[in-house]
This record gives sequence, structure tokens and C-alpha cells, in this order.
Amino acid sequence: MTRLRAAITGVQGWVPPYILTNKELESMVDTSDEWIMSRTGIRERHIQKGEGLGTSDMAAEAVKLLLDKTGTDPGDIGMVVCATVTPDMIFPATANIISDKAGIKNAFSYDINAACSGFLYALVTATKFIETGSVKKAIVIGADKMSSITDYTSRETCVLFGDAAGALLLEPTKEEVGIMDSIMQSDGSGRNYLHMKAGGSLRPPSYETIDAREHFVYQEGQPVFKFAVTKMADVAAEIMAKNNLKSQDVAYLVPHQANLRIIDATARRMGVGTEQVMINIERYGNTTGGTIPLCLWEWENKLKKGDNIILAAFGGGFTWGSIWVKWAY
Ligand code: ACO
Repeated sequence: MTRLRAAITGVQGWVPPYILTNKELESMVDTSDEWIMSRTGIRERHIQKGEGLGTSDMAAEAVKLLLDKTGTDPGDIGMVVCATVTPDMIFPATANIISDKAGIKNAFSYDINAACSGFLYALVTATKFIETGSVKKAIVIGADKMSSITDYTSRETCVLFGDAAGALLLEPTKEEVGIMDSIMQSDGSGRNYLHMKAGGSLRPPSYETIDAREHFVYQEGQPVFKFAVTKMADVAAEIMAKNNLKSQDVAYLVPHQANLRIIDATARRMGVGTEQVMINIERYGNTTGGTIPLCLWEWENKLKKGDNIILAAFGGGFTWGSIWVKWAY
């Protein structure tokens, strides 16, 4: 019997209109456009402004546009998974709220928290439901309002992050396209280098945690950088070797966009040229769950059926992983 594969049949991104430039950041903290560009490759990022707007609002926009462009009835969606570290609230899941806002009534929906690797974890999870035939149409979302957990008095982190959402539609196919293979890994011993100190059960919110600015991203940049360079490059090379893919077989590498230097190192390790790498970090910064679907969305028109694409990510946790996709349209 032919096995079912999970094919990506549409992708859509959404970014809020406000653009926070390096120039504006220069007026907020002791930094410079030159430092940010040379150390990270980021020039600007989009920020969600306005009262009463959360991650779900960006994601719902992406999902509504995705349903529209793929001609999908919201009632046919069976599953919604959202990768985020900036949920609207601790519970219920942001995916539930997105479903409600996008008119999706017949799905089960939940969130996945794997920081910057979250989108890959969510995609792999939904893939299994499609491959077993238990879900016919799944929506996989990566969305983060990083500005809600970014300390704009800390130059070490505030230059890095932006807000965005991306969503894709996953459907079964009997063709040899779709999600072909994946490698996912995590190592909780790295948690102290990149985390949010307070707001969870370990350190519930208090005046003390607020005064100590513990409700923001805390990152020790250098150890994270070293680990990210090694692990993202290793896992991308590993999935290629495992599937006997040579660099000339790969149409595109889609790396998580945290730092241009990490992206370059991964591409070098895979032996792929810059024209084979999706890079948009300059305009969006690190949007955590959003980076990979945002790249796929921006490159969608260039992709051809059968293209081999390697997705690779690294994030807090630590978490990392890679997925081999054969583009389905
Ligand atoms: N502007 C000017 N100077 C700065 C800035 C800034 N915005 N930020 C830091 N500096 C200074 C530091 O204070 C330091 O000064 P010193 O030498 O006088 O002490 C100097 O620049 C060098 O700082 P480093 O931290 O060593 O800079 P580095 O080259 O490591 O770059 C960065 C920092 C960009 C954060 C890098 O370490 C990095 O990209 N790390 C990995 C990020 C990542 O991949 N995260 C995982 C995903 S995120 C997630 O999961 C949510």
C-alpha cells in the first residue's frame, strides 16, 4: 500500500506594519547600526503596536489569508498547532484563540513550546497526524510577539527580536513529495543560557520579579552562539547524509533567522551557496516561531514541485532540528 505523506499545500506570513529600525534603537540604547548589522545581519524588525493585540491576532491574520488563498473551508480544518513562546496568556492555548478568530470550528488545537525550533517541532507533530490518516487538513503556525518579552533597556537582546506570524496548510498525498524526513533534538541542560526567569510556576510574577526585570528574554549570547553554530550545522548535515542528499540536490536551505553568522556557518557546512539559502533576517530580525514560515512565504513563488528543501533551526531549551521537505506545488 502506498504510504501517505504530509504535503505543504500553502503558506502565508503576516507582519505588523510598524518598523523598528536600527536607527531608532540607537536612540533607545547604547548601540549602532554598524554593530547590529556586522554582528547579527539585522537592519530592521516589525513590531506589533496597539492595545489589546497579542500573538493570536497576527497569527489569525496569516491563517485567514492562508485559508483564502488555498480556497479552504475553515470547517474542514481538523487540527491547528501553534509554535510560540509568547502565548496570548499561559492558558488557554493560543492555537485555540487563533482557531476562534479564524472561524475554525471543527479542529483540536494546541501550542508547542520549543522556542526558535518550535515551528519545526509543530510541523513534525502535525505531519504524524496527516501520515496516519487521522487528520485531513492541518494548520501549522509559528507566531511570536517577541516585543512583549523583550527588554528595550538591554542592548544585548533588544536589537535581536521582531514580531511576526507564519502559517502553512498540510494535507495528505500519495505522491513522493511533502515532509520526507526529520531529526529533532533537545538538551534541557542548556536552559540557563536562554530563558525567561519569571512568570512560570517556579517563580510566579511578583513585585520582586518585575523590579528585577525577570519577565524578559534572558540570554547569554556567546555560549548560545557557539552551541547554535555547531548544532544547527550538524543537524542539517546529518539529515543530508542520512538521506544521501548532496549539496547540488538541495534547492534551498531554510535556516532559522537568529544571526546571519550562524546561517552562514550552516550553509558552509552543507556546502550550499548563498543563492541556495533563504535569508530575510535583515528585514525581520529573529521572530522565533515565525522565521521559517516567513521565509517559505517570501520564496513561495520561486519554489517548484519536487524541490528539495532543508529546514534547520536552533533555539532555547536547548532545542534543535532539521526537516527535509520535497516541495509539493
Ligand atoms: N550594541 C553594541 N554593543 C553591544 C550590543 C549592542 N546591541 N550588544 C552587546 N554589545 C557589546 C557587549 O557588551 C560586548 O562588549 P564588551 O566586549 O565591552 O563586553 C561586545 O558587544 C561583544 O558582545 P558579545 O555578546 O560577545 O557579542 P557577540 O558577537 O556574541 O554577539 C549575539 C551577540 C548577537 C547575541 C550573539 O552572541 C548571538 O547571536 N547569539 C546566539 C543567538 C541565538 O542563536 N539564539 C537562539 C535563538 S533565540 C530563541 O530561542 C528565543
